[in-house]
Amino acid sequence: MTAVAVLGASGAVGRVVLDLLRSWDVGPLRAGARRPPDVEGAEQVAVDAHDPAGLARFCADARVVLNCAGPAIDLADAVARASAEAGADYVDAAGDDKLYAAVAAVPGGAGRVAVVSAGMMPGLSGLLPRLLAAHLPDGERLTGYVGGRDRFTLTAAVDYVSVDESFGWPSAAWRDGRVVPGALSPLTDVSVPAFPEPVTAQPYLSTETARLAAGLGLRQVDWYSVFAGERVLAALRAASRPGDGGHRRAGELLHRAAELDLFGQQPYQHLVVTLDGPGGARTAVVRSTGASDLTGTVAALTARAVLAGAVPPGVWHAAEVLDPVATFTELASAPGVLLASVVADAAAVDEYEEDVI
Ligand SMILES: NC(=O)c1ccc[n+]([C@@H]2O[C@H](COP(=O)([O-])OP(=O)(O)OC[C@H]3O[C@@H](n4cnc5c(N)ncnc54)[C@H](OP(=O)(O)O)[C@@H]3O)[C@@H](O)[C@H]2O)c1
Repeated sequence: MTAVAVLGASGAVGRVVLDLLRSWDVGPLRAGARRPPDVEGAEQVAVDAHDPAGLARFCADARVVLNCAGPAIDLADAVARASAEAGADYVDAAGDDKLYAAVAAVPGGAGRVAVVSAGMMPGLSGLLPRLLAAHLPDGERLTGYVGGRDRFTLTAAVDYVSVDESFGWPSAAWRDGRVVPGALSPLTDVSVPAFPEPVTAQPYLSTETARLAAGLGLRQVDWYSVFAGERVLAALRAASRPGDGGHRRAGELLHRAAELDLFGQQPYQHLVVTLDGPGGARTAVVRSTGASDLTGTVAALTARAVLAGAVPPGVWHAAEVLDPVATFTELASAPGVLLASVVADAAAVDEYEEDVI
């Protein structure tokens, strides 16, 4: 029996997933894409997610099907359906509310596990507040910064420009138990602890963060998407009013803008999340080599948790069902993670880095 069948195994996320699952020796692996990847230690299968019969063959006899093919906006619940028909458990590197609802409506899923939003954001971005709440149960104010100077694959770029209100609300914040539209403005040319350069921080309250804020009883959440490159910001402004080419064209422009902003520089993607309250403050800092690396790591850790029986039957978002402490500890030793730490003072991370240098 195949332990994990990875769809999209030749992609930026899929390669990381496959490398990690192989290094953990979780059992036999299957690697699928339209042009199957040439990888050692996995059965290679040519499969098109738009072909139900091919997808059924790909999912057959797998304990877990992990989907990191995309764009997710095009594939929707196709892979989850085939996975349920094959009697396999399911993990998806993409999310959020719309995909969750579609996967929850898949027939034949009863008694099985399905975990969506098993990536960086949504995914790790929701796990960090839960990790901080474990350190600081009386925390009431949350601040998050997520982003960097990073690649967008064309696939990820198309998904990124396609987000709608089922993902979140630009400029909104969480205040006293509710989403307040227009509460925050962009911050330009700001220094954020643990980020190596001045950045632009765009306020964005995701549905994931709002869910967590409600669940943790937080009073206030300010959350920002962080961009270091000017061209990416310009591409995102243009994407907010897509023209003739629609999301596909806007995604292409974002993909290219990210390459230009990266020219001659190392990609990075960081998350800096602070929870504070009467008991003090704690900051979770994750510094990484890129969003694809973090997403692949979270997706692989989720598949391993499902294989181990650590996730009960049902449909879940990864951030609400993974153990935050154990997952964070495992994430810290993944190849794409440069630093994963919880500190009392976020500024201390920069001082520590300077000491190390
Ligand atoms: N949650 C997060 O933070 C986060 C971050 C990054 C990415 N993601 C998501 O992760 C997914 C993968 O992104 P990526 O950057 O890894 O994309 P990518 O590098 O373009 O890889 C896509 C993979 O899917 C395969 N594929 C595409 N269409 C297919 C089809 N119809 N049937 C079978 N395989 C197909 C591709 O191979 P072939 O072309 O040979 O088929 C490739 O292996 C996307 O859904 C993206 O939105 C999530």
